[in-house]
Amino acid sequence: MADSSSSSKLVYFVVLPLIFLSGLVIILNQKPSRSYSWPSLHVPVNSHSGARLPLAPVKDLEHNSTAPPPPPATTVTEEQLPIKQVMENEKSARYSKNHSNLDNLEIVEASLSQARSTIQEAQRNNETSYDPDYVPEGPFYRNAIAFHRSYLEMEKLFKIYVYEDGDPPLFHYSKSMGILGIEGILIHQIEISKFRTRDPGKAHVYFVPLSVQSIATYAYVRHNRAWSPLQNIARDYVKLISTKYRYWNRTLGRDHFILGCHDWTPTISHGVPDLYKNSIRVLCNANTSEGFKPSTDVSMPEIYLPDGTMEGLIGGPPPSERSVLVFYAGGVHGYIRQVLMDQWKDKDPDVQIHEYLPKGMSYYGMFRKSKYCICPSGWEVASPRMVEALYMGCVPVLLKDHYAKPFDDVLDWSTFAVDVEVKEIADLKKILMAIPHERYVEMQKTGIRVRKHFEVNFPPKRYDVFHMILHSLWLRRINIQLHDISD
Ligand SMILES: *[C@@H]1O[C@H](CO)[C@@H](O)[C@H](O)[C@H]1NC(C)=O
Ligand SMILES: *[C@@H]1O[C@H](CO)[C@@H](O)[C@H](O)[C@H]1NC(C)=O
Ligand SMILES: *[C@@H]1O[C@H](CO)[C@@H](O)[C@H](O)[C@H]1NC(C)=O
Ligand SMILES: *[C@@H]1O[C@H](CO)[C@@H](O)[C@H](O)[C@H]1NC(C)=O
Ligand SMILES: *[C@@H]1O[C@H](CO)[C@@H](O)[C@H](O)[C@H]1NC(C)=O
Repeated sequence: MADSSSSSKLVYFVVLPLIFLSGLVIILNQKPSRSYSWPSLHVPVNSHSGARLPLAPVKDLEHNSTAPPPPPATTVTEEQLPIKQVMENEKSARYSKNHSNLDNLEIVEASLSQARSTIQEAQRNNETSYDPDYVPEGPFYRNAIAFHRSYLEMEKLFKIYVYEDGDPPLFHYSKSMGILGIEGILIHQIEISKFRTRDPGKAHVYFVPLSVQSIATYAYVRHNRAWSPLQNIARDYVKLISTKYRYWNRTLGRDHFILGCHDWTPTISHGVPDLYKNSIRVLCNANTSEGFKPSTDVSMPEIYLPDGTMEGLIGGPPPSERSVLVFYAGGVHGYIRQVLMDQWKDKDPDVQIHEYLPKGMSYYGMFRKSKYCICPSGWEVASPRMVEALYMGCVPVLLKDHYAKPFDDVLDWSTFAVDVEVKEIADLKKILMAIPHERYVEMQKTGIRVRKHFEVNFPPKRYDVFHMILHSLWLRRINIQLHDISD
């Protein structure tokens, strides 16, 4: 740990600044630009009163691009990071940008605009960037070059302001153990991170540091069915910061974010209309049928660390030592798992589907013995199994409806996970058996390479889950152009 933290200090304070100065850039041949913009799935049409999301060109470029087909010679199907179009917040057109002194927001916007064009240029010119410890590369990146440049720009520029008001445990704190532990871990890591600025005038995003897990633990009165007392905690806090500081009113919360893994986070956020409509919500419960907006919200993986660290979780044998086709064990929460049990429980030795783990069978042992691991939705879309599978080298089989996958704008999940639709559960075995062995081996190897983006480190390391969440926030922030609407 000490070793790695001093080496990452070296990276941050010495090596990276050098890179930026030297601009080690190789300009290669021009790539045709595509009209890909945002992964905009299921965006509620009237969710924004003014700002319109760029609709159309959906994620899946190969099959659904409205852009002209790629030139026949290249086999590269890289996508652009969604930084092409910029949304402007409502009324911006009606307000002149004429402030007597350059407003802070305009300075912030100018730096973002610079970053935007740097990334677009790297993307256009296929310019690789130098990096002392990791260069994103491989078909599991939608566009490795754009991601890398965007990531480096984030490290150079991104500033988060954390409102200091509010006391633990409801604010500035959340439990970091248990299956929702990532909430507490990330709140804490943001608070102590070098991305935090104490100068709100310089921030790109503003963190509303409430914890829904804490609200559920400390403020919820058992058997009380009313949401409003819980929503009031969030409402009062937003009222406080919007009265005391000028930043909320400036954009009606568009550059503000909350972060929550608890199932109630969407509902609590719903109690504060502008927070729900405008702010960036970092959620485990990324259910697009419940108002999760992939273009403005951030899908956060649920990660369960039984001992509070990754120790003992990472690693597993190679494909040749995995004798079980597919594994799942867990409670029958929700309709998807019910269908899974009805179809497959105790039916087939290759398909190990259990409600209760049989005696003598080890849970993580089965992740390491199986080729594929099913990650079904339960009561909620998210489940820690997806990351457990990646940690242990089992190819995740995502059995979920309306789930927005984490880091989907950067990672091509189809290269390391299998999507099975709920209506295909009966064909589960057939679907998995139909995947050629070489393709399975490729996905398994890719999963191991992708794993670093899901790792939880103390302190965080470059490109790990903390930094990927931050990059998701950064990406959403550089995609909107904000003007002060509060004058
Ligand atoms: C492709 O686009 C059409 C119409 O725009 C849509 O109906 C269809 O679901 C899309 N397919 C995929 C794979 O995204
Ligand atoms: C904008 O500012 C400039 C100089 O500060 C001034 O001359 C001009 O009249 C202003 N325009 C508007 C529309 O207020
Ligand atoms: C981009 O650059 C890499 C090497 O840096 C090269 O392998 C690749 O073919 C280039 N791609 C395009 C589309 O020019
Ligand atoms: C922000 O707007 C609200 C509601 O319009 C108002 O009560 C509050 O005083 C404003 N805050 C600031 C800092 O002006
Ligand atoms: C996602 O949201 C829809 C709409 O509310 C709901 O019917 C569905 O059960 C949710 N999925 C999960 C797994 O929670």
